[in-house]
Amino acid sequence: MSDIPTIESEALASIENAGDLAALDAVRVAELGKKGRVSGLMKTLGKMSPEERQEMGPKLNALKERVTAAIEARKAVLEDEALEAQVAAEKIDLTLPARPEPVGRLHPVMQVFEEIAAIFGDMGFAVAEGPDIEDDWHNFTALNFPEGHPARETHDTFFMAPDKEGAQKVLRTHTSPVQIRTMVEEAPPIRIIAPGRVYRNDWDATHTPMFHQVEGLVIEDGVHMGHLKGCLIDFVKAFFEIDEVEARFRPHFFPFTEPSAEMDVKCDRSGGQMKIGEGEDWMEILGCGMVHPNVLKNCGIDPDKHQGFAFGVGVDRLAMLKYGMPDLRPYFEADPAWTRHYGFRPWLTPSVSGGLS
Ligand code: PHE
Repeated sequence: MSDIPTIESEALASIENAGDLAALDAVRVAELGKKGRVSGLMKTLGKMSPEERQEMGPKLNALKERVTAAIEARKAVLEDEALEAQVAAEKIDLTLPARPEPVGRLHPVMQVFEEIAAIFGDMGFAVAEGPDIEDDWHNFTALNFPEGHPARETHDTFFMAPDKEGAQKVLRTHTSPVQIRTMVEEAPPIRIIAPGRVYRNDWDATHTPMFHQVEGLVIEDGVHMGHLKGCLIDFVKAFFEIDEVEARFRPHFFPFTEPSAEMDVKCDRSGGQMKIGEGEDWMEILGCGMVHPNVLKNCGIDPDKHQGFAFGVGVDRLAMLKYGMPDLRPYFEADPAWTRHYGFRPWLTPSVSGGLS
């Protein structure tokens, strides 16, 4: 009979070497299975003399027990390893995106420009443009700000270095100079919007030194304040995607319009959220008025024959109101996390028929 210590050390070695549960089970069958080596030895006990059996019985039983225990111990280790491998294989990396990220986003200001252009385009307005660096005449004088008029001071103007004649250009403080450029170049009827950047020396949560406006100008026969109101109320309903809005036109002063007004809309500020078109509060959203006769004259249009209306709206603030951005400053910080959160998919062009937002 092969000696018991050899069998034991062979069996324990192959148990230790078993790399997975299947290999370990093969060792178990080879040693302890019906036809296994250890089982075979156990069977020989029956044929032994009582003396032999008394000697060999405990030894063989001990061998069987040790091999069994070694298999159990190895099995526990392999089961733990298998579980760990499975957990590692099935782990979900939550930091990976669920879907491929679109590469870029449209800034909310650009989205709102598109929405405004879509709405006014639907009303027959064309888009006009002018330069960001303006001369004093287009930015102020032609718009009926007389020299030394205090209203010039309220614009916190950025001045460029004086030229040889001492004239200083300015970073336009509003889009209204595009009205002037359009009326100088085109004869009525005129129906334009002028989206663009404007600049004023101001910096807090709701004012940045560069911001965006859309100007509107209509010069058509028989146009009056009622058309202005209807046009702007229609705009607000379309822009905020609401069926009804209560608006009021509060008398105001702009040198280039007479009468002038600020348009307020009903809003609800309860619950920390701003809702336009509901509630009992008023929210100022734009400035407007009938084009001042002096402005028409300055552009070579006869105020006795033609009149019209104009309006100017702050796009950054409209975007804040519609899309719930609380602070204006991050607009210009180019933080990708902010742009991903508040930005728009560039290929979803807003349209009046297809949906604005
Ligand atoms: N230009 C004015 C502003 O910047 C807005 C405005 C435009 C008001 C046209 C009336 C008419 O405040």
